[in-house]
This record gives sequence, C-alpha cells and structure tokens, in this order.
Amino acid sequence: MSSTPRTVIAIDGPAASGKSSTAQWVAERLDFRHVDSGSLYRGITAAMLRTPTAPEAWTGSKLVAQGSRIALRPERTSFSVLIDGESTEEELRGTRVTEHVSMVARMPEVRAWVNQRVREAAAEHDVVVDGRDMGTAVFPDASLKVFLIADPWERARRRLTQRLGRRPLDLEIAEETELLVKRDARDAMQTVQAADAVLLDTTYLTQEEQVERIVALARAVTHRPNIT
Ligand code: DC
Repeated sequence: MSSTPRTVIAIDGPAASGKSSTAQWVAERLDFRHVDSGSLYRGITAAMLRTPTAPEAWTGSKLVAQGSRIALRPERTSFSVLIDGESTEEELRGTRVTEHVSMVARMPEVRAWVNQRVREAAAEHDVVVDGRDMGTAVFPDASLKVFLIADPWERARRRLTQRLGRRPLDLEIAEETELLVKRDARDAMQTVQAADAVLLDTTYLTQEEQVERIVALARAVTHRPNIT
C-alpha cells in the first residue's frame, strides 16, 4: 500500500440523486478513479444470492465470508466489481440485488468490510468515492465533500428516462417516486450529510452543470487550476 496521501473527493446522497454518474464524470475530468461504494454492497449481496442460503438466514459473518470472491479491478478512471473473476454490472443493478441490498447494508460487519475495501482503493490512487457515508464514516478528512440531493419526483423521472429510454408518463413517475421514497426510508440511517459537506440540490441542474460545479470546487481544494 502506498503511503503517499491521496486526494479524496466524497460524494454522498440518497438513491437516484445522480451520485454515481456524476462521480464518474468528475473522475474522468480530474483523471481520478471513481469508487462506487454501493456497488460493493451490491457485489456482496449478489455473491450471497448465488449461494443456496435463504436471505432469512443471512448474517453479517456469512456475508463477509463471501468477500473473498469479490475483487475491485482498476480501470483507467473507475473500478469494476468482479465476482469469482467475472464482470457483474447487469447482475448488480438487477431487481433481486436491489431488493436485498438495503438489508445487507445495515449489517455492521458488512459496512466494515466495504469501508476497508474502499480505503484500500483510495490508498492507491486519487479517487472520487460515492455512497451514503463516505464523507462521515469512511473519509472524514476528504479534501472535498459534496452531498447531492434532488426532489424525489425529479429523481424518479431521471431514473425512468434512463431505464425506459423515453419520456415517462406522470403515472409511471408517481409509482417510481413511491418506490424511491420507501428506499430512502430503508437507507435513512446510513445516509449522513457531513457537517462540512457542500450541499448541492440538483433538481434544476443538468448533469453537465452538476459536474461543472463539483469540478470547480475540486479545482479550488486541490489547487490544480489546470484541471479542464
Ligand atoms: O447507491 P446504490 O443504490 O448502489 O446503493 C446500494 C445500497 O447500498 C443501498 O441500499 C444503500 C447502500 N449503501 C450504503 O448503505 N452505504 C454506502 N456508502 C453506499 C451504499
């Protein structure tokens, strides 16, 4: 592990606030690597779902035991989560994993495991990390902390537009908003805004504007004015 202090930009916020895509764009602009902590919670959930153990019997120690099957493969500006050496993106975003992951993410042993993996990734490279508690539990000394929020209806609309590839109907947005608000409630305990985070409400911002604002903040805190 490198002993050089690395720059960490922490982006937290609720589900579908645009954290992951924003963090990825910011990482590309800064030539940092993006670490998506939610994908590690999803990875351990997916690995467990591949075993015959029923979800009712899952415990923190059984879940953490699956951790050895999971690797973070460094890419140029991100990390891929591998299970048993294979790429898993579709499985991680699937409904089975989404249904079970909140319960998994509430287990302290699992949280400790994820936090350790994220810290290891950050020791090797400058990173943009996204999640729920990156600026509080994992990187209280991050160079920059951003907490992203957006109106639930707008978050639902964006998520559906991405998923369906068309303009969603109001009825569809209403159903999705209900699901999102329920998910917010399930994840509420883990979702913590650091006292020194910059709060960014993206309801009326485009993706480009969000990225631009975070890159401007990053430029200021990292003293790298040449970031384009
Ligand atoms: O952001 P996401 O939907 O991929 O997150 C998946 C789950 O993991 C979700 O239930 C919230 C949880 N999570 C968490 O508790 N802490 C994090 N740092 C990241 C995600």
